[in-house]
Amino acid sequence: MSEQDKVFIFDTTLRDGEQSPGATMSHAEKLEIAGLLDEMGVDIIEAGFPIASEGDFAAVKAISEQAKNSVICGLARANFKDIDRCWEAVKHAKRPRIHTFIGTSPLHRAIPNLNMDEMAERIHETVTHARNLCDNVQWSPMDATRTEEDYLCRTVEIAIKAGATTINIPDTVGYTAPRESAALISMLLERVPGADEIIFATHCHNDLGMATANSLAAVEAGARQVECTINGLGERAGNTALEEVVMALKVRNDIMPFQTGIDSTKLMNISRRVASVSGFPVQFNKAIVGKNAFAHESGIHQDGMLKNAETFEIMRPEDVGLQATNIVLGKHSGRAALRSKLAELGFELGDNQLKDVFVRFKTLADQKKEVYDDDLIALMQSGDAEADHIRLTALKVSCGMGLEKSAEMTLEIGGEETSVRATGDGPVDAAFNAVKALFPHQARLQVYQVAAVTEGTDAQATVSVRLEEDGKIATGQSADVDTVVASVKAYVDALNRLVVRREKSGGDTPEVSYKDVS
Ligand code: KIV
Ligand code: ZN
Repeated sequence: MSEQDKVFIFDTTLRDGEQSPGATMSHAEKLEIAGLLDEMGVDIIEAGFPIASEGDFAAVKAISEQAKNSVICGLARANFKDIDRCWEAVKHAKRPRIHTFIGTSPLHRAIPNLNMDEMAERIHETVTHARNLCDNVQWSPMDATRTEEDYLCRTVEIAIKAGATTINIPDTVGYTAPRESAALISMLLERVPGADEIIFATHCHNDLGMATANSLAAVEAGARQVECTINGLGERAGNTALEEVVMALKVRNDIMPFQTGIDSTKLMNISRRVASVSGFPVQFNKAIVGKNAFAHESGIHQDGMLKNAETFEIMRPEDVGLQATNIVLGKHSGRAALRSKLAELGFELGDNQLKDVFVRFKTLADQKKEVYDDDLIALMQSGDAEADHIRLTALKVSCGMGLEKSAEMTLEIGGEETSVRATGDGPVDAAFNAVKALFPHQARLQVYQVAAVTEGTDAQATVSVRLEEDGKIATGQSADVDTVVASVKAYVDALNRLVVRREKSGGDTPEVSYKDVS
């Protein structure tokens, strides 16, 4: 593949994705996801925003140390302190990159109160400073799609002259449309001196549902780096989804003759891991990685599929890492069968991990006659982590028509067991009241959602809980054949994530403040 045909994949799941309210990941989870991204062939991993918190700094540094092939990038606002902190974190990488940005549109210029000339000077100083530290520098004019064209050209030219090697054009608010996205890249390539010597990137948000289309249009016009996230995770409606870009370029290579270096068979696994660690489940009808993306229910479709899969499938499930298999596990299945089944589903487990999962699998198989693929996926996506601050160790609920609804519960909090009995309007309400009594908190329940994993009355329930505390949001997930147990575990999972967020933001910069461009 020539450099002309290659599109670099820049994944920002761990930075822009993690900025999504409630999607906080732990240090270990970030390292795991970064490892999977590296292994899958992602060219550049944006690992975090080092100045934002001690936790972010530590994660970017650790990811830099562990990365094998990917370029590791950190984000920095347009000030020397941010840039220095970013460099301190990424300099440990084999291939480090500093990504610095400033909002260039009229609305964004007004916030730090810089006029056009002052901002131009700031861009020159900060990109020069970054380039003196690192020879791989990316610069972004935030809200580029709402910036005056002449001013955008002027600032891009300044950044290139100051040493930026990649210029990213963000559609920060998901406002552009495909034709406009392409025209903007063409205009920059045509008008900006030196534009042919750097790489243009496209970074699209999905507010109007056009992020992937806008990114691909930019590629057709000459952009050679696509910024995206796994499952399209990201603020508001999210970002361009990595899996959509990769598969669109693969399936429609006839009209978009560009290639990525991504091993598409790893897509399903990483999608599931990100859904699990971020607490953001993938919608059933999501392109490429949704549960229904390869499901065929109508008679006509099923009939066509049996005769020739190409009648209703434009890509093969195996291409994205889904294996078609008839093996259903049950309580007599052994460790080897479980390991091989999980590997088919994209979960490669070490011996210790397998030991833990096998115990939970046996418990599930005792409760359910047949354990389907979806059950195993739900099992892999739930379960306590060793490091969890709060763990559910016992629960007994009582309920029924005309009876008092109560829950007797034991939680292990910070290693110590404590128990209580609480009542409520229903069994879940009683159980949640018990959690509140044992672990008092101010978090407000925003979402409580239950869905069946498979069909039948013995199906596992998968539960999502979203909590809000002082503007911080955390989402928890769990699955169990007992709906109340799944609910409490999801609630506890969300609380554990809030605890991590509290620790993370203690004394740090909680949000990006535009005042700090200087
Ligand atoms: O959406 C955006 O503008 C960003 C920038 C920080 C690149 O994420
Ligand atoms: Zn963004």
